[in-house]
Amino acid sequence: MCGIVGGVAERNIVPILLEGLKRLEYRGYDSSGIALLNANQEIERVRSLGKISALETSIEAYKRSESALFNGFIGIAHTRWATHGVPAENNAHPHICNNQVAVVHNGIIENYQSLKAEQIVEGYRFTSETDTEVVAHAVHKFLQSSKTLLEAVQKAVKTFDGAYALGVVSPQDNHHLIAARKGSPLVIGIGIGEHFIASDVSALLPVTQNFIFLEEGDIAEITRESVVIYDIAGNKVERPVKQSQLSANSVELGEHRHYMHKEIFEQPQAVIDTLEGRISQDHVLVSSFGHQAEEIFKQVNQIQIIACGTSYHSGLVAKYWFEDIIGLPCFVEVASEYRYRNPVVLNNTLFVTISQSGETADTLAALQQVKKIKQEKNIATLCICNVPESSLTRESDLIFLTHAGPEIGVASTKAFTTQLVALALLLTAVGRSKGLMTEKRENIIVKGLQKLPGLIQKALEHEDVIKEMAKCFADRDSALFLGRGTMYPIAMEGALKLKEISYIHAEAYPAGELKHGPLALIDEAIPVVTIAPNDDLLEKLKSNLQEVKARGGQMIVFEDEKSNVDSEGNMRVVKATSNVGRITAPITFNIPLQLLSYHVALIKGTDVDQPRNLAKSVTVE
Ligand code: G6P
Repeated sequence: MCGIVGGVAERNIVPILLEGLKRLEYRGYDSSGIALLNANQEIERVRSLGKISALETSIEAYKRSESALFNGFIGIAHTRWATHGVPAENNAHPHICNNQVAVVHNGIIENYQSLKAEQIVEGYRFTSETDTEVVAHAVHKFLQSSKTLLEAVQKAVKTFDGAYALGVVSPQDNHHLIAARKGSPLVIGIGIGEHFIASDVSALLPVTQNFIFLEEGDIAEITRESVVIYDIAGNKVERPVKQSQLSANSVELGEHRHYMHKEIFEQPQAVIDTLEGRISQDHVLVSSFGHQAEEIFKQVNQIQIIACGTSYHSGLVAKYWFEDIIGLPCFVEVASEYRYRNPVVLNNTLFVTISQSGETADTLAALQQVKKIKQEKNIATLCICNVPESSLTRESDLIFLTHAGPEIGVASTKAFTTQLVALALLLTAVGRSKGLMTEKRENIIVKGLQKLPGLIQKALEHEDVIKEMAKCFADRDSALFLGRGTMYPIAMEGALKLKEISYIHAEAYPAGELKHGPLALIDEAIPVVTIAPNDDLLEKLKSNLQEVKARGGQMIVFEDEKSNVDSEGNMRVVKATSNVGRITAPITFNIPLQLLSYHVALIKGTDVDQPRNLAKSVTVE
């Protein structure tokens, strides 16, 4: 999704902005641009459709054609993911008004149409289809009656409905970069004699590790020497400077061809990091979820999980665990549905949001909705998230950070795996706090989790055989994924991964539902991927497989060493793992599915890390 980077420095800002934009590429975008104030205090801007490399080419072409240096000490830059208006150069940010104001914007100005109508009457001319252009015009308009750019932005944002993170510069106030945040994240990077802004810290790691996280409604006036922040009421406020634990090279590719591949192979370590400090010998430390966690968990009568995409699938796995293992009701719903209906929320619910980014607009909105009835219904909120200081973590009573490290590939892999580990810890923590789990059971779960990095490592060793199997997907339009029990949400996740990165249509079904519809699809042209752990449902699953086999389906089965699925004819069986338990099985069986999608995408030549039309952090509805 859209990304912002900007800065005021004593050196040419352009290389810093370009590096920042490259580091934001993972969020997903279709166009980009940079605007700066040059030595003559004029705005110069270059925008381009496509990748940052295309922007670099456009900058070089601009320098030649305009005989310009295209450098300056103050500038703003943006990667755009189209919402209002097609991906095109004229819709790319920064947007400029009368050569006096340049603006980058993340979020959506919901009342842009009425503002646009007013601005047209006032004589402003529009050159894009975006909602953002009204921001540039509004700031320009208020600048005519303001002493400073800050004052103009403060007046302008009062007229906006919706969400924004903004970076604004103007030659009329040429020392200041103004940043504003409401509903979309924005951080300030603190350098020595230089300051920066970005939509996430990863953009600025090469220049600083010290950050101020702006709060809702904050507006900051930034110069080389100072950062002054005003809250929504216009009062000067102090916000703490926090040091990021991330280093610049923690988001580098290393020996891997794609971030997705790197992140798949980082999973054993990611699980170790998620578990670190959260278990002691055979026990889960309930306080890993927060100091009041034990008190809160004792009162919980049911769990409501809200999430989107891959995070939703981790919630679905947890539903099986909560209900099967500790008998606690657990409801799971996608945030975009939940927020627009009138859900019945029962008293003493633990409301769990799961999100790798912590910024997903729908998930945040669902949380805000439930917070309105929090007191009355004795609801506690918990967020399972991979990004510290993200919006969701700041809005929740309890926080569990998954510590997976930065995930750059748009298709989530290690974030999902560590969400499942977090949910297994939550199951155990709630189970023990409520007396619903025996010590013996807890010990078994903890031992299983400790074995998990090794199990994932072993599953990864099947890469070569999976790579071979991927070939049979290359010319297919459609695929089916089957599973039963917790393997059904894992099948859903496998199908989503394949869709996301290889653009092959894929559907997941609980294997028992086959005969109620999808069996009609089966012929020799459709690959059917099945997950067959050695569990209570194995015999039933084998019967389902026979139904597919009899109709000529091309089958790939990932089984446990002891599952003994018959591998003759059109059935190819991979012994993907051994000795997995109820908790470790779904986490381990997901690994071969990730590898399968990755290798299918490689064969198809798609953009693995930044699939078309998708974004890593979906900060708009
Ligand atoms: C986007 C990403 C997915 C992710 C989903 C939910 O669609 O591309 O990988 O699963 O958002 O994001 P969240 O950050 O809330 O987990």
